[in-house]
Amino acid sequence: FLFLLGQSAVGAGYVGGPTCAVIALKCPHIQVTIVDLNKSRIDAWNTPDFKLPIYEPGLEDVVRQCRGRNLFFSTDVDKGIQEADLIFVSVNTPTKKSGVGAGFAADLKYVESATRQIAAVATSSKIVVEKSTVPCRTAESMRTILEANSKPNCRFDILSNPEFLAEGTAINDLFKPDRVLIGSLQTEEGKEACEKLKEVYANWVDPTRILTVGLWSSELTKLAANAMLAQRISSINALSAICEATGANIDEVAYSIGFDSRIGPKFLKASVGFGGSCFQKDILNLVYLSESLHLKEVAEYWRQVVEMNEYQKRRFSKRVVDTLFNTITGKNIAVLGFAFKADTGDTRESASITLIRDFLKERANVSIYDPQVPHEQIWQDLEEACGDMGIEEIKSSVTLRPTALDATQGADALVIATEWKEFREGIDWQTVYDGMNKPAFVFDGRLILGLEEAERLRRIGFKVTVIGRGNGM
Ligand code: NAD
Ligand code: UDX
Repeated sequence: FLFLLGQSAVGAGYVGGPTCAVIALKCPHIQVTIVDLNKSRIDAWNTPDFKLPIYEPGLEDVVRQCRGRNLFFSTDVDKGIQEADLIFVSVNTPTKKSGVGAGFAADLKYVESATRQIAAVATSSKIVVEKSTVPCRTAESMRTILEANSKPNCRFDILSNPEFLAEGTAINDLFKPDRVLIGSLQTEEGKEACEKLKEVYANWVDPTRILTVGLWSSELTKLAANAMLAQRISSINALSAICEATGANIDEVAYSIGFDSRIGPKFLKASVGFGGSCFQKDILNLVYLSESLHLKEVAEYWRQVVEMNEYQKRRFSKRVVDTLFNTITGKNIAVLGFAFKADTGDTRESASITLIRDFLKERANVSIYDPQVPHEQIWQDLEEACGDMGIEEIKSSVTLRPTALDATQGADALVIATEWKEFREGIDWQTVYDGMNKPAFVFDGRLILGLEEAERLRRIGFKVTVIGRGNGM
C-alpha cells in the first residue's frame, strides 16, 4: 500500500516503493507516506545506511533526497490512511493457489483487506487509487466495500492507475513514462478525482502523455499491455526453435523484423523464457477472465503464450542434457544468473529457477552465482521449486559462489541464465576455460555471445551453444 500527502501508498514493494518515492521527489509540496504490514520491509526502507529492501538502479539516490523530508515509511497503516487525501493501493495480487480459479485467477485478498481497512479507519473523504494490477471491474468491488462501510461525510472516489514500470529500469521509467494511464467513472465526481491525480503527475510528466479513460478500460489495458509484451517474447522464442533447427540466426531474424516500423525493434530478444512477477500472472488472469466470460477461444489464444514460455524453458534444459552426451548425472553445472532479468535482485518466476530444478532432477551438481540475489532467497526459491527434494538434499547438490569465476571452477558446463552486464563484458574466458573440466561446454540462454564472440570461445576450446542458433553458430 502507498500513501501520498496528503498522499499515502499501501504496499512498500517493487511498485509502491519506487513509485511513491519518485512522487515525493518530483512533488516536494506533497507529503508521501508509504505504509506496509511487513515490518522488516519497512525497517529496511528506513535503514540509516540505505540498504533498501529492493535493488533498483537509481532508487537509493531518490530515497536519499526525500526520506525524512516529504517521504516516510511506516507500519502504522491506520494513521497513514487517516492522514492521506489520496491513497495508492499497491499491494500484491498473486495468482490464486487454491479454491475457485486456482492457478489462474488473481488472489484479491490483499486488495480487499486494504480496502476494508481504508473504509474502517478513514475519517475524511479519500481518493483511492488502484495501483495494483487487478482483473477488470475490481474497482467496482472496492467501491461496494467502501460505500457499505463509510461514515457520514466520508466520500470515496476510486481511480484506476496501473503501473507500467519494468524492474531494473523502474526509476527511469517513472521519470519518463511512455504514458500514465488514469481510469475513472465518467461521472462529474469521477472526472474531478481524475483531474486531482492528473495534477500530481503533471508536476513532471508531459500532459499529452497522461491518458484518461474509463475505469474498466484502464484495468483491462494493464492486462492487455503485459499480454502483448509477453506475446512478442513467446513469438520470438517460438521462432528461435525454428532457427536452431535450420541454421537461421534468431538475432538476425529479430533485427530484420524489427526494421518494419509497424513492428519495431524492442522486446524481440529470444531468451530462456520470460520471468518476473507480472507476465505469467497477468496472462493467466486474462485467461481466467476470458473463461469467466465464456470466451473459450480467447482464453486458449492467450494461454498459449504461457505454454510457449514453459516449452522454451524445457527445450533449453533438454538441449543442455542432449549436448552433454545425454546425461548430466553427477556432472557439475555452473549457472550464471538467478534473477529473472539483469539489474534486479527479484527472482519471482525466474527462468533460472526452472533450469536449476531440471538439472537437479537429472542429479547434476549445480553451482550458482548472481551479483544481487541474496543467498537465503536462492535457497527459498529452490526449496519451493523442487517440491519433493528437501532443503538438505538440495544443499548437498547446490553451492552458491561469490564470483562467476568461482562458480565455473571444476564445471563441465556453464549456463548463462541472466543477462547481467558483467557476464557480457567481465568474463575472462581463457581463465574460465583453464578451470573447467574438458570438454568445456558453454550454453548462452541470453544471446550475450555474438557470432564473433562465440567463434572466439570456440578457438579457446569451448563447445558453445547459443539460444536461437544451430550448433556451431
Ligand atoms: P510486492 O509483493 O513487492 O509488494 C506488495 C506489498 O504489499 C508487500 O510488501 C506486502 O507486505 C504489502 N501488503 C499486502 N497487503 C497489505 C495491507 N493490507 N496493508 C499494507 N501492506 C500490505 O508486490 P509488487 O511487485 O510491488 O506488486 C504490487 C502490485 O503491482 C501487483 O498487483 C503487481 O501485479 C503490480 N505491478 C508490479 C510490477 C512489478 O514490476 N513488480 C509492475 C507493475 C505492476
Ligand atoms: C513487465 C513489463 O515490461 C512492465 O511494463 C510491467 O509494468 C511489469 O511487467 P518486468 O517483468 O519488470 O516488466 O520486466 P521486463 O523487462 O518486461 O522483462 C520480463 C521478462 O521478459 C524478463 O525475464 C526478461 O528477461 C524477458 N524478456 C524481455 C525477454 O526474454 N526478451 C525481451 O525481448 C524482453
